[in-house]
Amino acid sequence: MMNNHIEIFDTTLRDGEQSPGFSMNQEEKLQLAHQLERLQVDVIEAGFPIASDGDFETVREISKHITNSTVAALCRTRHKDIDRAAAAVEPAAKPRIHTFIATSDIHMKYKLKKTRDEVLDSAVDAVEHATQYCDDVEFSAEDASRSDPDFLYQIFEEVIKAGAKTINVPDTVGYAMPWEYGNLIKGIKENVPNIDQATLSVHCHNDLGVAVANSLMAIRNGADQVECTINGIGERAGNASLEEIVMAIATRDDDRETKVVTEELVPSSKLLSEITGHNVQPNKAIVGDNAFAHEAGIHQHGVLNNPMTYEIMTPQSVGLESNKIVLGKHSGRFALNKKLQKMGYELEKDELNRVYFKFTQVADEKKKVKESDILDLIIDTLSHQ
Ligand code: KIV
Ligand code: ZN
Repeated sequence: MMNNHIEIFDTTLRDGEQSPGFSMNQEEKLQLAHQLERLQVDVIEAGFPIASDGDFETVREISKHITNSTVAALCRTRHKDIDRAAAAVEPAAKPRIHTFIATSDIHMKYKLKKTRDEVLDSAVDAVEHATQYCDDVEFSAEDASRSDPDFLYQIFEEVIKAGAKTINVPDTVGYAMPWEYGNLIKGIKENVPNIDQATLSVHCHNDLGVAVANSLMAIRNGADQVECTINGIGERAGNASLEEIVMAIATRDDDRETKVVTEELVPSSKLLSEITGHNVQPNKAIVGDNAFAHEAGIHQHGVLNNPMTYEIMTPQSVGLESNKIVLGKHSGRFALNKKLQKMGYELEKDELNRVYFKFTQVADEKKKVKESDILDLIIDTLSHQ
């Protein structure tokens, strides 16, 4: 059965913060957690409490303040880690313990130095231990996309029996292609007998630039929860970008929905950039400076007559006041005239032609033509009638 509500699990404060140059202090994380709650994400992963006392305190503080979203804390499968995560989320209205262990042969051999049986036992033991503290336990099979699918089916079946309410399928190193990842999710739906007792979650990294595509393929194949970050920040090339997934669902998927208040997407992106000091690239989908900007004359003409000619969603729906008509060397007479009218100038046809001619000369020299440049052009043109 298709689940039409897709849960948004935000991991900006955990996986996002783990990337170089993106660390945040407690106050900043708390500020962002409040913004994530305004955004109405279902789950906020607040940190990795065993990592440091600071991380523990921050997760605890966030747990005290957040009331609507579930607050999750990450931990390895060790009891010490789980106890620390449990203590950190203990004050939360809706706490979640998220435990993980790697399941790929390469990770088990070179990192964990454990056999499959040992990993299976450790996963089941961790979930049982975590359920003593809280009902809401998530289990992640790290490097799932490079794991033997049969082993994945087995470990997921056992952790669900042990009490896991969510099972997560990370493409930890961003290796999977969309069709492969979709098939992996389909395989899990078909081969884990008790899968209907758990939420099926996906977690994609962007090393090959397909984290969002993989997440969307997973949704089409039965995933119920997507893990993602604001601005797509995260380890190496980042995680799947929350704003892109949410707007892809809102714009193109008639069968599914999220609870996200899309008008809070741009404010969330801007707040994160302000806190970390890292802006997104101008052409970033949904939240980049150029996502709703038009410079080419043909596009400007279309958009000024009907925005839907070149916009597939409204700027207002993502939290912007309006689109941007940028005057530059690719702009046409139509957009220039609109700008002049906005500035209070109604020009005759030949006046407009003359202003436009001068405008193209200025635009050839400058990357962007500002309002003050246009004012100079008008004064110059009209004073030489
Ligand atoms: O990428 C990953 O595998 C993770 C897990 C710990 C969920 O971030
Ligand atoms: Zn990750």
